[in-house]
Amino acid sequence: MAYKIPLFNLNFDEKEANAAAETIKSGWISTGPKCAELEEMFIRMFNVKYAVSVSNCTDSLHLCCLVCGIGPGDEVICPSLTFAASANCIRYVGATPVFADIVGPEHINIDPLDIERKITPKTKAIVVVHMAGFPAKMDAIMAIAKKYNLKVIEDACHGPLSEYKGKKLGTIGDCAAFSFFSNKNISTGEGGMFITNNQQLADRARLLRSHGMTTMSYQRASGHATSYDIVELGYNFRLDDIRASIAIEQLNKLPGDLEKRAQVRKKYIELLSEVANVTVPFADNNEFVSNYIMPIVVTKSDIKRDDIRNKIHEAGIQTSVHYPPIHRFSIYKNYGAVLPVTDYVSDHEITLPMYAKLSNEDIEFIVNVVDKAVNEYTAVRRNFTIK
Ligand SMILES: Cc1ncc(COP(=O)(O)O)c(C=O)c1O
Repeated sequence: MAYKIPLFNLNFDEKEANAAAETIKSGWISTGPKCAELEEMFIRMFNVKYAVSVSNCTDSLHLCCLVCGIGPGDEVICPSLTFAASANCIRYVGATPVFADIVGPEHINIDPLDIERKITPKTKAIVVVHMAGFPAKMDAIMAIAKKYNLKVIEDACHGPLSEYKGKKLGTIGDCAAFSFFSNKNISTGEGGMFITNNQQLADRARLLRSHGMTTMSYQRASGHATSYDIVELGYNFRLDDIRASIAIEQLNKLPGDLEKRAQVRKKYIELLSEVANVTVPFADNNEFVSNYIMPIVVTKSDIKRDDIRNKIHEAGIQTSVHYPPIHRFSIYKNYGAVLPVTDYVSDHEITLPMYAKLSNEDIEFIVNVVDKAVNEYTAVRRNFTIK
């Protein structure tokens, strides 16, 4: 079924097509000058010292765990209300994810109080996810990290250019990962970035990204090196120049796109504030954020979220759920996590459409449909007929 209002709208025009075509015509399509240009852009725009382009955010998170020295026997605290990659990366290096609960329906990020409760002598790091692009409680998390000498990895996949007390998300912990998957704020199909302010971490990430090799093909092709050594057991986590050239165009558009998304969210909040039994997480946030997605949480516990979603879909509006929690997946069930707030939110969350081109009429239509589905119009809204 084609939805009248999709969840997400790819922000592509001829700029991305032309950029990809130019790179193809240039004769250099793998990791090269476009990846380097993209890394420089990240350094400038995110106010960070080092950026290493990678094949996706999952690989970037894997690199974060490797360069933070996490390994077998270590425990890493992470949320469960996130995509599986935020926990899988911990297992890739032989460590154990320990799931912490989230704060509540109004703040669906990891709860610093539960982080502290979950610390053991084996705890080595915390993976923080900034859900929907809204900052986790970083002051409290960094204070815990300092107190117990833990590394902090930011899964900033949802939050490019989002800010926390004036700092860009991804620049507060030890290192961070971004995604360029199709539905992200920066879309290239697949792709990602590793960033850090620590030179040692950046050097090691760059080495491990490409088989632990001391030089790259582009350096050799351009005469800057003639040979290479392999000094560590590395991976192929490289981005290619075709995607990097698309990412450059996406990054150029990003600030303008985020300004428009902020207007979309403002309208949503204004209208949803009149709808009973619905909470908008992070409604009190007033810092600049990416607005990657538009989550709402139904606060009437006896309501079946999936019935509401079906009614919304019948009106031609696509929705999603962020997320089915990781601790309930088959491969994580035996970790024994008890996370009542995560369970509640996950069972009552609905992600509404979010993209810059949503008009006020679209948002009004969506909110009416939500109100009808949840409450049979407690807000008795406008002269709308929803078939
Ligand atoms: C929070 C989070 N972390 C990590 C990832 C993985 O990103 P990628 O698909 O680029 O590997 C995603 C992707 O959806 C995500 O939402």
